[in-house]
Amino acid sequence: MTDQQVSIGTLTLKNPVLTASGCFGYGLEFADFIDIAALGGICTKGLSLEPRAGNPPERICETPAGMLNAIGLANVGVDAFCRDKLPRLRSAGVTVIANIFASSIDDFVAIADKLNQETGVHAIELNISCPNVRHGGIEFGRDPAMAAQVTSAVRSATRLPLWVKMSPEAGDLVAVARACESSGADALTAINTIRGMVIDVQNLRPKLANRTGGLSGPALRPIAVRMVWDLVGAVGIPVVGIGGIATTRDALEFLLAGASAVQVGTASFRDPTAAQRIAAGIADFCRRHSISARDIIGRARG
Ligand SMILES: Cc1cc2nc3c(=O)[nH]c(=O)nc-3n(C[C@H](O)[C@H](O)[C@H](O)COP(=O)(O)O)c2cc1C
Repeated sequence: MTDQQVSIGTLTLKNPVLTASGCFGYGLEFADFIDIAALGGICTKGLSLEPRAGNPPERICETPAGMLNAIGLANVGVDAFCRDKLPRLRSAGVTVIANIFASSIDDFVAIADKLNQETGVHAIELNISCPNVRHGGIEFGRDPAMAAQVTSAVRSATRLPLWVKMSPEAGDLVAVARACESSGADALTAINTIRGMVIDVQNLRPKLANRTGGLSGPALRPIAVRMVWDLVGAVGIPVVGIGGIATTRDALEFLLAGASAVQVGTASFRDPTAAQRIAAGIADFCRRHSISARDIIGRARG
């Protein structure tokens, strides 16, 4: 077995494959299917200060090579996560990335402060790119000044590594990324979903109650690979690639483009073992080529 460890700043991951936020619950739901501690890490469902019920149904629909979702960040809230989920993740030895979401900078800071007092959280991922909520989602992620403000406020509230999740809908993605880097982000994750819409032609109405939803899955992948490529060329901090990864080949594309690790999202809905299968596939690729996982990173950049 060749070395599968990769580093995201000061954090060392067992291998380069994590699960993406919102597509793997709080990890524990998948413990009957795979050894979740053997993954590079799990990103939790987006945690808010208070529990949230999210949007009314319909919240999900299938699209060609993907899906639309408008869950609206339903979650148990940060306190219930720390009380009911984190102890089990910690004792199982899972690498936990806490994805957090808020509609104000004060709330972002309050959540980060709570997580900072826990053991067993390995990094915070700031979701400043959710397209499915009315306040505080994508607005932070579209504007470099707002992205910088929220990043530096959370930076001052926590000792934990700070990852910031990029919105593909940012007008100037590189400007937002650089603003986050200079405000103390340790890594960028890219990308979140892109807004789309499906009309139900029988009912003559939009399929989702929220009307629009975030497009994810393989349809997103070429856009995500291009954005990861651009980000890796523009910032000095590591980039974690996300978007339509369903196979080992797909994950390799992101690593070759320069991503230091990848996250598997929608694919876990179809195959709960997807992330484990892809991690094993990368290890096999490395063994066949006598290289480490680190050696793959950025190889397509010449
Ligand atoms: C049902 C669903 C819920 C999601 N919830 C979150 C979330 O809470 N926080 C977040 O940052 N991203 C969330 N995402 C975005 C994913 O983490 C990921 O960035 C996106 O789906 C693209 O990756 P994929 O094509 O592999 O799914 C969600 C995606 C889906 C499909």
